[in-house]
Amino acid sequence: MANNLLAGKVGIISGALNEKSIAWKVAQRAHAEGARFVLTNAPLAMRMGEINKLSEECNAPIIPADATSVEDLEKLFTGAQEQLGGKLDFMLHSIGMSPNIRKGKNYGELNYQWFQQTIDISALSFHKMLAVAEKQDAFNEWGSVVALSYIAAQRAFLDYTDMTQAKAMLESIARSYGQRLGKLKKVRVNTVSQSPTKTTAGAGISGFDAFYEFADKMSPLGNAPAEACADYCISLFSDLTRYVTMQNLMHDGGFSTTGISQEMADLMEKANG
Ligand code: NAI
Repeated sequence: MANNLLAGKVGIISGALNEKSIAWKVAQRAHAEGARFVLTNAPLAMRMGEINKLSEECNAPIIPADATSVEDLEKLFTGAQEQLGGKLDFMLHSIGMSPNIRKGKNYGELNYQWFQQTIDISALSFHKMLAVAEKQDAFNEWGSVVALSYIAAQRAFLDYTDMTQAKAMLESIARSYGQRLGKLKKVRVNTVSQSPTKTTAGAGISGFDAFYEFADKMSPLGNAPAEACADYCISLFSDLTRYVTMQNLMHDGGFSTTGISQEMADLMEKANG
C-alpha cells in the first residue's frame, strides 16, 4: 500500500534493535514510501548484528551513536548529511531504557544514579539530538521530528517507575523544541503515544502482559500494533501533516479516552460471581 509519501525525503531513524522494534517497522515503511535514511543505534546494540539485515533491506547506511553522547550525535548528524547528500527532512527518536526497570526496582526503592541514566537515555537524548541538529542547521524547512512516548506520562501506571518521568520530560521537550524549531526552520516536533507493544523494551517491564491485555480490552479498536504506529509516523513525516506540531498524539486504539469497556465490565461481573 505504498503511495510514495516520502519520495525525495531523507532522514535518521534511531532505535531499530530487532524485527519487533517499532523503529524497525518505521524503517521498512519509510523505505517503501520512497525515503532514504541512515539507521542509528547504541554501539552496544549493534553487536547483536540484527540491524545489518534491515540496513540491507532498506539500503540504509548505519552510523552507531550512543544517544547520551553529544560527541557521538555530532558525528551522526554530520555523517548522515554526508551519506544522504544534504540536509534532513525527518528524524525518529525511538529510544528508551531504564536500569531500574531492568533490575526490577519498585518506585519506592529507585537507585538515583540509574534514575539519571533513565532520564539521560530516554528523554535528554531527544534534546541533545535536536540541539545538535539545530547547531549544524541539519534540517530542511518543513522537516518533521517524531519521538515515541507512552500514556504513563499523564497517568500513573504500576511498574513503569522512572520511565514515567522520562516520558513526561520527553513530551515536554517536544513542545519546547517544537516552538523553537518551528520559528527557526518551520520544523515540526511531535510525540506519538503508542499502545503497549510486544517489543524488547516493552516486554522488559514487569507485569507487561497484564497491562497489555488490560489496554487491549479497554480500547474499542484494540491495542495499536507496531506496524500501525509506523504508518502513523510516516503520515507525520509526510507533507500531509505540515501544521501539526508540539503535540502529544495518542495512537492507542481509543484507550486514553475510555472510562470502562464492556469487556472489562463483563470481567468484573464474572469475578464477582
Ligand atoms: P526496543 O527495545 O526495540 O527499542 C528501544 C531502543 O532504544 C533499542 O533499539 C535500544 O538499543 C535503544 N537504546 C537504548 N539505549 C540507547 C542509547 N544509549 N543510545 C541509543 N539507543 C539506545 O523497544 P520499542 O518498544 O520499539 O521502543 C521504542 C520506543 O517506543 C521507546 O521510546 C519506548 O519507550 C517507546 N514505547 C514503547 C512501547 C511498548 O510497549 N513497547 C509503548 C509506548 C512507547
